[in-house]
Amino acid sequence: MAILVTGGAGYIGSHTVVELINAGYEVVVVDNLSNSSEKSLERVKEITGKEITFYKADILDRDALEEIFTKEKIDSVIHFAGLKAVGESVKKPWEYYNNNITGTLVLVDVMRKHNVKNIIFSSSATVYGTPKEVPVTEETPKGECTNPYGWTKSMLEQVLTDIQFADPSWNVILLRYFNPIGAHKSGKIGENPNGIPNNLMPYITQVAVGKLERLGVFGNDYPTKDGTCIRDYIHVLDLADGHVKAVKKLEENAGLCIYNLGTGNGYSVLDVIENFEAATGKKVPYDFKPRREGDIAVNYANAEKAYKELGWKARYGIREMCEDSWRWQSNNPNGYEE
Ligand code: NAD
Ligand code: WQD
Repeated sequence: MAILVTGGAGYIGSHTVVELINAGYEVVVVDNLSNSSEKSLERVKEITGKEITFYKADILDRDALEEIFTKEKIDSVIHFAGLKAVGESVKKPWEYYNNNITGTLVLVDVMRKHNVKNIIFSSSATVYGTPKEVPVTEETPKGECTNPYGWTKSMLEQVLTDIQFADPSWNVILLRYFNPIGAHKSGKIGENPNGIPNNLMPYITQVAVGKLERLGVFGNDYPTKDGTCIRDYIHVLDLADGHVKAVKKLEENAGLCIYNLGTGNGYSVLDVIENFEAATGKKVPYDFKPRREGDIAVNYANAEKAYKELGWKARYGIREMCEDSWRWQSNNPNGYEE
C-alpha cells in the first residue's frame, strides 16, 4: 500500500517524501508543478536511491485523480498541494479559494469513492490569527485570519473536521506548521521560491548569495526584546519527521487529531540574522523598514501535544536551520534552474 503525497514536488513535500522513503513507505506523488520543479523529485531519487511514482496532475482534475486512485494502491494521503503566498492571496482570492478549497473537496470526494479515508492536512499557525496568549496550544481558539490564504487553511480544517464527524471511519490529522526553514543535509533539495521571496529565510539566503542587495526588516517597534517580530522557526526535516509520526498515528485509527509542529522557541528577526551570520560567516546587510501589514508581534508554539501523542520533537536548532538553508542556497544559487 502507498501514501499519496499531493504537492510532493514542493518544499515541504519533497523533504517529507525523502523521510517517508527512509522509513520504508511506498510513495506516489501528484503535483501540477505550478510552484515547483520536477527536478526536486530527481534529487529525491538521488538522495534515496529509489524511483518515485509521479503524476503531473492537478488536484482539481477529478478524472486524473480517479485514474491515480484506480491504478495505485493508496491507503492514505498527505495533502500538501495548495497555493501559499499570503500577499498574492489578497490580490487573487478566487484563485486561492478555488485551488485550495475546491481542490481539497475534489480530492476528498475521490478518496471516499475509493474508500481511502486517511488524510494528513498541511495547516498553519496562521489559523490562530492574532493569538491572545503565547505559546499557543491546540486549545488556543482559532482566530480571524488576515488574508484569504489563511482563511483557506482555517476553512479546510473545518471541512475536514465536519467530514470526520459525519463519518467516524475517517482519520484526519491537522498539522499546524509554524515557520519552516532549513533544507536537506545533502544540500540537494530546499526552498525554491518564484521571483522575489516573501519569507524571511529565502530572502536572507538570496542576499547572502548576492542575488539581492539588502534585507528589509519589517518593523523595529514591536513590543519585543529588540523591536522585531518573534516566530517559531522549525527545520523542514523536523517537519518531515512529524509527518512520518503522523502516518503512524493514522495507522492507529486516530479519528480527528490536531497538532502544532513547532520547536517551542521564539526568535526575533534580528536573532535569525545573527544566527545566520554566525553559522555561515556571511554578512547580511539590512535596513529597518515599516511594519508589514498583517504581521503579528509574537507567535510560537507549545508543541507538547505532538510529543505526548506522536513521540515527535524537533531535533534541530536555529543554527543548523541557518547552516542547512545556506548549504542549499550556496550549492544552488538559482534553485532548480541550471
Ligand atoms: P510549495 O509551494 O513548495 O508546495 C506546494 C506544492 O503544491 C507545489 O509543488 C505546487 O506545485 C503544488 N500544487 C499547488 N496547487 C496544486 C494543485 N491544484 N494540484 C496539484 N499540485 C498543486 O509549498 P510548501 O512550503 O511546501 O507548503 C506545502 C503545504 O504546507 C502548503 O499547503 C502550504 O500552505 C502549507 N504550509 C506551508 C508553510 C510554509 O511556510 N512553507 C507554513 C504552513 C503551512
Ligand atoms: C517572518 C518574520 C516578517 C521577510 C508566513 C505566513 C504563514 C506561514 C509561514 C504558511 C516576520 C519578517 C520577512 C522580509 C522581514 N505560511 N520579514 N523581512 O509571516 O511569520 O509567516 O509563513 O502557512 O501563514 O504568513 O513568515 O518568513 O514571511 O516572516 O523582516 O523580507 O520576518 O515581518 O516578522 P510569517 P515570514
